[in-house]
Amino acid sequence: MSETPRIVLLPGDGIGPEIVAAARRLLEALGEFEFDERLMGGCSIDAHGVALTDEVLDACRGADAVLLGAVGGPKWDTTDPDAPRPEQGLLGLRKGMGLYANLRPVRPSPALVGASPLREERIAGTDLLVVRELTGGIYFGDSGREGDSAHDTCEYSVAEIERIARAGFAAAQRRAGGSGRQPRVTSVDKANVLETSRLWRETVSRVSEEYPDVELDHLLVDNAAMQLVSRPADFDVIVTENLFGDILSDESAMLTGSLGMLPSASLGEAGAPGLFEPVHGSAPDIAGQGVANPLATFLSAAMLLRHGLGRPAEAERIETAVDAVLERGLRTPDLAGDGDSPVGTDEMTAAVLAYLTDDGDR
Ligand code: NAD
Ligand code: IPM
Ligand code: MN
Repeated sequence: MSETPRIVLLPGDGIGPEIVAAARRLLEALGEFEFDERLMGGCSIDAHGVALTDEVLDACRGADAVLLGAVGGPKWDTTDPDAPRPEQGLLGLRKGMGLYANLRPVRPSPALVGASPLREERIAGTDLLVVRELTGGIYFGDSGREGDSAHDTCEYSVAEIERIARAGFAAAQRRAGGSGRQPRVTSVDKANVLETSRLWRETVSRVSEEYPDVELDHLLVDNAAMQLVSRPADFDVIVTENLFGDILSDESAMLTGSLGMLPSASLGEAGAPGLFEPVHGSAPDIAGQGVANPLATFLSAAMLLRHGLGRPAEAERIETAVDAVLERGLRTPDLAGDGDSPVGTDEMTAAVLAYLTDDGDR
């Protein structure tokens, strides 16, 4: 890694530019970084006719890490199979950078237990990690339209399942650390219906033999969706395929109070640059109003520091600062309850920055 880490910023569309600008201020307050801001998503379609140019993909591949806001919006929504779509840029980036493992940690901040639609006693103690397979499955199988029908194909190979299973088991071991707690992996599939899921279950079970200290159980995805809201604190690591992981992680986000709180890291082979992005989308309904919650992006910047640059101490400083401003009662509108006076993106950013630069003395 170069001495001054090079971070490609992809603000994208909708609220993306607002939250990435805020995260950049945070990183600038923490250290020296070289930023390279590029177009990806709808903004790139407007400028170049495609959501991801080869030049931007190359810049991302050559960076130390990539921070993304979000892409998409009504301007580019279309059902025309031949029209370019912003989301193609994101998928192209994941595939082109080999980012097969998407880590989505769900750790409700203690100050926010009241912000979740679930009762406090249900979410108390929740601390789980969704490990989502990111470069296979129905997202990348053959698809098309033939007259008045259409198809999307779900395919998985043993090798693809093995590597994501290993990422899940290793993450469970890491999380348990020296705590003495037994690490647990829940593999989620639809093995009662889908052949890819039966291969998934068989392969994950075999890989689990390499990790005798990790307990493994299997859940069908419909049941998993239910268990996530009925007993979220019982989960440790959830390993699942691309589409199920997409859906279950948005559901899990509500355990934290808002989709605006959930960060993610997309990782490939060791040493390759990772992509860090909030789980939420471009939120076109609130774009340009200065009210977007920047915390998921701040927490994604923390994951960038920890997983992308090997700087865990600075990652923790961001996480502590986020917890502290929430503890003090600051709430963007998505988090605000009755009696709270919500703050905007700028005020929230300023509060996190103040905590960071005063070393948490305030
Ligand atoms: P969304 O996540 O953008 O928004 C869902 C709801 O959550 C909206 O009400 C929105 O206002 C709210 N929300 C999301 N993030 C928030 C934040 N930081 N602060 C406050 N409120 C927040 O999902 P959607 O509306 O289904 O999708 C909108 C667009 O985003 C679509 O084009 C979709 O394809 C795209 N999308 C992109 C990504 C990505 O780039 N990673 C992820 C998901 C969706
Ligand atoms: C996500 C998003 C993307 C996905 C879309 C925008 C392609 O929903 O990152 O969760 O489905 O993976
Ligand atoms: Mn999603």
